[in-house]
Amino acid sequence: MIQSEVPVSIENALNDAALSVNRKLDELIQPVSGAEARVYEAMRYATMGGGKRIRPYLLINSAAIFNVHQDYALRAAAAIEMLHCYSLVHDDLPAMDDSDLRRGRPTAHKAFDEATAILAGDGLLTMAFEVLAHPDTHPDGGVRAELCHALAVSGGAAGMVGGQMIDLASENETLDIGAITHLQRLKTGAIIAFSCEAGAILGHASKEQRHALIGYAHDLGLAFQIVDDLLDAEGDAAETGKPTGADAAAGKATFVSILGLERARQQARLLGDQANAHLDIFGKKADPLRWMTEFVINRKS
Ligand code: IPE
Ligand code: IPE
Ligand code: MG
Ligand code: MG
Ligand code: MG
Repeated sequence: MIQSEVPVSIENALNDAALSVNRKLDELIQPVSGAEARVYEAMRYATMGGGKRIRPYLLINSAAIFNVHQDYALRAAAAIEMLHCYSLVHDDLPAMDDSDLRRGRPTAHKAFDEATAILAGDGLLTMAFEVLAHPDTHPDGGVRAELCHALAVSGGAAGMVGGQMIDLASENETLDIGAITHLQRLKTGAIIAFSCEAGAILGHASKEQRHALIGYAHDLGLAFQIVDDLLDAEGDAAETGKPTGADAAAGKATFVSILGLERARQQARLLGDQANAHLDIFGKKADPLRWMTEFVINRKS
């Protein structure tokens, strides 16, 4: 038999997704020439030039399980990356984590100014919904409404925004494992869960399939945040592209602050296995999601 298939590695697959989503973001966030040009520039700065593009990868590969048209998945992938980038711009502001470095470059408020960074975040958040609601994202208006609703729930006070609130409120507090799990599920897990759920929505998946993907994403999201906390504690800023040691300095409640490095690492691995167990019903079609689990656990950036 002729071996025609190029061996797939998660790095190649993730790179492919990143290239496609970069092109789509470039197309969707066009520079303008008017007096408002600066906010567009800041939106482009915050979305382009770096980022692992994990959420777009999850969306594209969840949608692929249901043979969703690639153009639809790619637009939804760009929308989730816009919302994610907005959350990073605001997370880095002096009023929040006060961080100067993101994706190996000055944070948006350093490269521009605070007001522009706030507005660029607002612009990206709203543009995410503009993209999802546009007929090019799916011909079925019901699907578009469901995408918008799901993103609003996971990005809002019941999800990411709520998690960010607890994160800030918990500085210098000792949380137990249940409280920290709740915090991380909201802060990081909700958007990761949306990324997978969106694939199911676009693909008119059954309830069971949708639940399986959300279950996978919740466990993956927790593992992802534990590794983020581990990288903050023991990673290399040259690799992560953001400051290290910031969580401990700010007195953040993290899995690492509660469990210590070794147990946090074990927990991430356990959650990875648990995440993959949800994928059994999809067989080989879910392999790209299984590769992502491995990537998330072992990542250095
Ligand atoms: C960082 O997310 C923020 C968290 C939710 C922990 P990523 O690690 O996915 O950041 P980028 O997009 O690759 O820069
Ligand atoms: C922020 O978590 C997650 C968001 C919702 C943006 P972190 O504050 O730990 O993210 P990093 O480490 O700055 O990327
Ligand atoms: Mg933060
Ligand atoms: Mg931060
Ligand atoms: Mg962090």
